[in-house]
Amino acid sequence: MDPVRNPYAPGAGQRPPELAGRDRELQQFEVVLERVARGRPERSMVLTGLRGVGKTVLLNTFKSMAMQRLWGTGKIEARPDQSIRRPVAASLHMAIRELAPRHRAPERIEEFLGVLKAFAMRDPAAAKGTSHWSPGIDVPASRGRADSGDLEIDLTELFVDAAGVATDLGVGIALFIDEMQDVQAPDISALCAACHELSQTGGPLIVVGAGLPHLPSVLSASKSYSERLFRYARIDRLDRDAADLALIAPAEREAVEFTPEALDALYEAADGYPYFVQAYGKVAWDLAPNSPITVDDIKVSAPEAEEELAVGFFGSRYERATPAERDYMHAMAQLRDDPVPTADVAESLGRKPSSLSPARDSLIKKGLIYSAERGVIGFTVPHFGRFLRAQPL
Ligand SMILES: Nc1ncnc2c1ncn2[C@@H]1O[C@H](COP(=O)(O)OP(=O)(O)OP(=O)(O)O)[C@@H](O)[C@H]1O
Ligand SMILES: [Mg+2]
Repeated sequence: MDPVRNPYAPGAGQRPPELAGRDRELQQFEVVLERVARGRPERSMVLTGLRGVGKTVLLNTFKSMAMQRLWGTGKIEARPDQSIRRPVAASLHMAIRELAPRHRAPERIEEFLGVLKAFAMRDPAAAKGTSHWSPGIDVPASRGRADSGDLEIDLTELFVDAAGVATDLGVGIALFIDEMQDVQAPDISALCAACHELSQTGGPLIVVGAGLPHLPSVLSASKSYSERLFRYARIDRLDRDAADLALIAPAEREAVEFTPEALDALYEAADGYPYFVQAYGKVAWDLAPNSPITVDDIKVSAPEAEEELAVGFFGSRYERATPAERDYMHAMAQLRDDPVPTADVAESLGRKPSSLSPARDSLIKKGLIYSAERGVIGFTVPHFGRFLRAQPL
C-alpha cells in the first residue's frame, strides 16, 4: 500500500502513531504534576525498562503534559563520560525561557539567570580552558550562589532558586533525564541530594528519569533514601490488547484494516515489544497490496522486517562490542534468554569469573547488558539472545 501514508514509526525516540498501553503511567504522572504544583509532598517518577520498550517516547509525552500545564521544562540525555553540570544548566535555561515571558518581574528572571550562569561556569572542563562553551546568557554571572564547585551544594541552590521562579507563576519546573543510568556516580548522588532537599521544602521542581532496568539499584546504591524520592514505573512489552491497538488505531485513520489472523501473526512475531510492533507493522503495510492486511502479507513481509531489525536494532548495538565482549554475550545467549548467573557464563567459557569482569563491566557500561540482581546479568535488548544465536561466531 501507499508508503507515503504508512503511519508506523520504528526508530529510537520516534513518536508512535498511537501511544498504546500506557494509560496507568500517564494518569500517575498527571497526579504528580497536580500535587507538586500544589506544594504537596510527592515522589517524582522514574521509568525503567529494556531497550525499545518506549521509555524515551513516554518521557517526551510527560514533557508535553508538563508544558500543557504551562510548566517550564528541560530535557537531557546523560552520557557516561560527561558531568551533568552543563546539560542541567542548559536545560534549566530552556525551562526558564519558557516561563520568562509570563513573569511580571523581569529582575527575578535576571537574578536567576545570573545564578545559572555562575553555576554553568563552574564546570571543571571549562575551568581548564578545554572548552569555550558559553551558556548564552547575557547577564553577568552572580557570585556566592550555586558556584561553590561542589555539585551537590550548587544543584541544591540552583533548584531552590528555579523552583522559586516557578512558584511566582503558580507552576512548576520539570527536568527530564533520559539514559539516567549513565549519569556518573558522584553526579547521581548530588542529584538525589538536591531532589531530597527540594522535597523537604515543597519546591515545585521535579526530576523525572528514564533508564535501563538496573537504574533503581544505581540510585539506591548512591543514596539509600532514593526510593522515597522516586516512584519507579517499569515499562514493559505491550499486552495483546495494547499491541493490537498500536497497530489498528493508526491504520483505521487511513481506512485500512487487519484480519484477525494477521493480528495473531503480528503479535507472535513482535512479542508485544513496541519497537518490533512498529517495525513489523511498517513493512507489512508497505508490502500488502490492499486492505485488509492478511496473514499472508505478514508472512511475506516478516523476513524483510527481521532483516531491518537485524541491521538497525540489533546489529548497530552488536557492533559496539569488542571480540572479547562478543564472546561473553554469545556464551550468555547459549545459556538462556532470561538473565543468567555470571558464574554460569564463566563456567561455560571455561574461565575464572574474575577474569571476565572487564568484559562484563564494559558491556554494562555500553548498555548492552545489565545486572538484574547480584551476580545475575541479562541483555538490555529484547530478543538479543535469539539474534546472537543466528550470528556466525
Ligand atoms: N506505547 C507505545 N505504543 C506503540 N509504539 C510505541 C510505544 N512506545 C514506544 N513505541 C515505539 O517503540 C519504539 C521505541 O521507543 P523508544 O525509543 O521510546 O524506546 P526506549 O525504551 O527509549 O528505547 P532505548 O532504551 O533504546 O532508548 C519507537 O519506534 C516508538 O514509536
Ligand atoms: Mg530511549
